Amino acid sequence: MENNRGQWGSTFGFIMAAVGSAVGLGNIWGFPYKCGANGGGAFVLVYLILVISVGVTTMLGELAIGRKTGRGAVGAYTSLSKKYTWIGYMGVASGFIIVGFYSVLGGIVLRYMLGFLMNLLGMSGFPAEGFFGAWIANMPGMLLFYAIFMIINIVIVMGGISGGIEKFSKIAMPALFAMLLIIIVYVACQPGAAEGYKYMWIPDFNYLFSNFFTVLKVAAGQMFFSLSLGMGCMITYGSYLSKSENLVRNSLIIPFSDTTVALMSGMCILPACAAYGMEYAGGPGLLFNTMQTVFTQGMGGTIGNIMGFMFYLLVLIAAITSSISLLEVCTAYLIDKRIEKGKDPQRVKMTVIMAVIAFVVGLPTALDGLGTNVAGGAWMNNPAEMFGLPVMTATADWLDFYDFLAEGVLMPLGAMIMSILIGWVFGTKKLIGEEVEVSAAKFTGAKFFDICFKFVVPVIMAIVLVAQITSFLG
Ligand code: TRP
Repeated sequence: MENNRGQWGSTFGFIMAAVGSAVGLGNIWGFPYKCGANGGGAFVLVYLILVISVGVTTMLGELAIGRKTGRGAVGAYTSLSKKYTWIGYMGVASGFIIVGFYSVLGGIVLRYMLGFLMNLLGMSGFPAEGFFGAWIANMPGMLLFYAIFMIINIVIVMGGISGGIEKFSKIAMPALFAMLLIIIVYVACQPGAAEGYKYMWIPDFNYLFSNFFTVLKVAAGQMFFSLSLGMGCMITYGSYLSKSENLVRNSLIIPFSDTTVALMSGMCILPACAAYGMEYAGGPGLLFNTMQTVFTQGMGGTIGNIMGFMFYLLVLIAAITSSISLLEVCTAYLIDKRIEKGKDPQRVKMTVIMAVIAFVVGLPTALDGLGTNVAGGAWMNNPAEMFGLPVMTATADWLDFYDFLAEGVLMPLGAMIMSILIGWVFGTKKLIGEEVEVSAAKFTGAKFFDICFKFVVPVIMAIVLVAQITSFLG
């Protein structure tokens, strides 16, 4: 049974895979732009406090539930009690929703990487000024790159836990780290970069006190997404863990590494903006508009093309190691079901089935041209146009609509319920403590985790839930 589902080959491999899941567009894109738009140092401070309290605790909760039950999101909750199966389904639903739009974005990253590669080879990789706006309305292009990105996912997840996900992550993650370091050092040598560090590291307490709830909400949502929490992803990865692994230690290493990469990517992007006179608070355009300009015009020439190629390659790697974890949540659901019925898992076939469904779910994100709409050359309208709804963040484009469903509602709700179940229904000592001690490790920090499961996580999640809903509907 156990071998049928698959298992991580080594501790290092598991950590690379889990950190790979965590490190993604959220770190390299979301973190710098949200930090840039929400007070810099003030944001970083709140973010760090949240990682240590809510992030580490929820990570431990998910890994422990996964390893204890040996099942993916749905199976794990069913094993705890049949009446909680629906929480697992919320997770798988989030998986489909996120892997779709995530892969559309991944496809765009792939296009940018190839663009810089073409530049290097003497071809014109970005034909037009303001390439981004033209590209998102280029439907055949968007669809092609979306499909390619999804196929890359299928190929890796098909290979299984140690033979696919772990094997890829073990090579890709160290490579990502090295490339990020090179760019950071190069950027640090540019005149004017220091402004960016100052902005990021010196908290403005006046800003913090007058915008506390906004900063808290944005930082908490970001932290959750960045750590791949709230939808059973870490439950699924935890289910492939050997009983000898120290869960508390891993629950510290993963958030620590993820946060390090988020901070590093801030230290790459914000000083680069400062050095080349770009806006920090450029919002979501940061990754595709601002950074492209930094490389092509700021740095310019061959060095700009090399740095640009390396940058988008590392973003691509980050995106792939994350989206495979999302696809794995969906795939594990089918595989668990088959094993339960005594059937062969047929991983290859199950992966393809789930990826095809995810592709269809994600299609509107590509087809509305990220909100460009039919009027702007896309093939489909945004939810507001389609259903005659008022234009709000959640209806302005399909990506935001999906993001609202998953990140805004399903995930904070899932995390809140999990935390309440652990803290109040099953008991932290019983559910988490016993599982931690299976590996002969002591449950260090038991009191701290108990308080977090009982109070801190549910309260913060409730705030996030209310704040997300109001902001998306605003
Ligand atoms: N953490 C990834 C990022 O930062 C995205 C991701 C992967 C994710 N798996 C997840 C988000 C599960 C939420 C849940 O980009």
